[in-house]
Amino acid sequence: MPAVLASGCGSNQSITNPVTEPAREIDTLWWSMFAVAMVVFAVVVALLVLAYVRRRRDDNSDPDGRMAYAVVVGGGMVAPVVVLAVLLVFVIRVMPAVSAPAPGSTDMTIQVTGHQWFWEVRYPGTAAVTANEIHLPANTRVNVVARTADVIHSFWVPRLNRKIDMIPGRTNRIELDVGRTGVYRGQCSEFCGLGHAQMAFDVVVQPPDAFRAWLARQAQPAGEPSSEPAVSGEQAFLSSSCGDCHTIRGTSANGTIGPDLTHLGSRRTLAALTLRNTTSSLYHWITNPQAYKPGARMPGFASLPASARRAIAAYLESLR
Ligand code: CUA
Repeated sequence: MPAVLASGCGSNQSITNPVTEPAREIDTLWWSMFAVAMVVFAVVVALLVLAYVRRRRDDNSDPDGRMAYAVVVGGGMVAPVVVLAVLLVFVIRVMPAVSAPAPGSTDMTIQVTGHQWFWEVRYPGTAAVTANEIHLPANTRVNVVARTADVIHSFWVPRLNRKIDMIPGRTNRIELDVGRTGVYRGQCSEFCGLGHAQMAFDVVVQPPDAFRAWLARQAQPAGEPSSEPAVSGEQAFLSSSCGDCHTIRGTSANGTIGPDLTHLGSRRTLAALTLRNTTSSLYHWITNPQAYKPGARMPGFASLPASARRAIAAYLESLR
């Protein structure tokens, strides 16, 4: 049990393992609420034990009911109001640290759009579009503009800041400013359908130079494949209706239903962190996505010859 608890608290997706100032404020708030809740719990248990110990006393020690009245008014009304008022003060103290950044106060803006069930990430001012992997420069105030393409999702990277809902017809914003480079796991935290649990993403925080190089690369169109099987993979991709749902910039594939695949080979994972990004897992994914992510909008392509599926996987992995 202690091991389970400790692994939960120290994991890469835990509010009790904060790396930014807002996340530290939330962590402190969480422990404060936990402490208060433990005190209340201890008092209630003590009263319960007391009632049990004294259960057989039938002397009439409270003839006019004053004691019972004090317990009901004090324990049932005054104490909850006091406790909740104190917790409210704690919460109000944390709110400024986690509120949306003032317009124009940040260094850069990214747009994150929730889809059933993946995250679309755009970098305004560049052509870069990626999915399920948000790269950010370290020590930079980033304005995250959160929207949804369909139902309500919730954008949450517990180690970096609070949750922010993605609501149809609305635009919500949150600030990410991460000092420490690293990879931080995020997760959709509003039930959004069958693929909800498999709607995760990584926030990759890089030194600013490395981030700029990454962004410049992502903004480029896809390169032409130069060797087999990638060359025939591109042909198979373009002739097998993949482009109706997916975009590969620089080719005729311009669908917008699924993730942009222009630089798929550069990503760490497939299907919103469901699979590691390897040619082999991509091949299996193309063959039968439902086996790995039930409900995924992508149909299986088991009807294609295995050689074509293999070639498509090789082509997509070559898109770095
Ligand atoms: Cu998207 Cu839950």
